[in-house]
Amino acid sequence: MRLEYIVFEIKERTAWVRFNRPSKLNAMNAHILKELESCLVDCEQNENVRVVVLIGNEKAFIAGADVEPLAKGDVNTGYQVAELTMKVQERLADLPKPTIAAISGYALGGGLEMALCCDFRLVGENAVLGLPEIKLGIIPGGGGTQRLPRLVGLGPATEMLMLGNTIKAERALAIGLAKEIVPVSQLEVRAEELARQLAEMPLAALRACKMCLRAGLNTGLKEGLRMEQTAFSMLFGTLDQKEGMAAFIEKRKPRFSGK
Ligand code: COA
Repeated sequence: MRLEYIVFEIKERTAWVRFNRPSKLNAMNAHILKELESCLVDCEQNENVRVVVLIGNEKAFIAGADVEPLAKGDVNTGYQVAELTMKVQERLADLPKPTIAAISGYALGGGLEMALCCDFRLVGENAVLGLPEIKLGIIPGGGGTQRLPRLVGLGPATEMLMLGNTIKAERALAIGLAKEIVPVSQLEVRAEELARQLAEMPLAALRACKMCLRAGLNTGLKEGLRMEQTAFSMLFGTLDQKEGMAAFIEKRKPRFSGK
């Protein structure tokens, strides 16, 4: 697919998805969502990709859904936008590889929802995060009312959703929305470091870990524990389990092959 609003590149074992619609602070329209979907399919299928980083520019990660085409929309417009957004976000959340959102500037509405689908959120010191949809007379349509309280708890999520206020980096860190705060000039370097660390992890164990974490939220404890037990036992069929344990016994650093 020809990409107009996203710059996609694979460096070492990391795929960089760079939102690139600066004139509109990377506000997302259907084109961007379809481009993102196609990048995510590539990330899933390409065995060289071990980690995915989503990033914007200094002023904005993504300032939300593009309000312009929505302003004159009807009930069907709302349904279709939410449907496409949900489809792409499910693909991102379920990607069997670790994902990092590197956020500088605004991550609002659908932009924050996109970041909520990632495994890690690094935020620049200038980050401004929020779900301001209530101020537009709507609510988030890309998982905000569901994923945010699961991540930060009902209290902080209620405040952000019902008041529509934005929060800064420090507050995002305090409520567990951000993994860490990074000087803006270092954001890309830090994302690269974290990606490298994740790329060196045992592939199957990392995938199993992500699957258990996420599927566990949608199931009861008993079923979740069974799922973990099954995944745990399957990992004994990997070379990385042999290597990880041998390295421990031999008091050396493991060299995981991803097999
Ligand atoms: N949809 C459409 N266009 C958007 C947008 C969005 N979500 N967010 C920003 N833009 C556009 C602005 O309309 C402006 O375009 P223009 O230059 O053609 O007028 C451009 O991006 C720059 O934004 P601007 O508002 O001038 O920058 P700012 O620094 O003064 O304010 C924000 C930044 C993020 C506070 C402000 O743009 C904003 O509130 N955006 C909407 C956020 C939102 O409600 N998101 C949820 C949508 S569901």
